[in-house]
Amino acid sequence: MEKYPFFCDLTGVYMNREKRWIFAIKEDEMADGDKKPLLLEGEKVLLLRKDGDFFAISNKCPHMECPLSKGTLEGHVIKCPCHDWRFDIRSGEFLDAKEIKVPFYETSIMEGSVFVNVEGAGK
Ligand code: FES
Repeated sequence: MEKYPFFCDLTGVYMNREKRWIFAIKEDEMADGDKKPLLLEGEKVLLLRKDGDFFAISNKCPHMECPLSKGTLEGHVIKCPCHDWRFDIRSGEFLDAKEIKVPFYETSIMEGSVFVNVEGAGK
């Protein structure tokens, strides 16, 4: 997670040169191990909190697009509810074939609010 990577442009969107940070949720609205499906700028994003850190991945499984928000989280691994594909929420990698990834997004916290970079370097 980055700390203070952006400035406010007074529209609610926070930006720096290459990133587009969108407000997702207040930090204290999610407990450790929580999953929260969100729609950010038209993208179906799954926000997760694990060991105090926030992670954001696409909420659509790359296999057949089942919602990963209905899956189970064990450690840093989420298991799809449809056919049990497992992904590392830190990188988006499919554990059985690392060349397959679920899109993932950077997260950042500023003054108790969680932001997601919807430009998503890991997309
Ligand atoms: S849709 Fe996720 S494993 Fe098949």
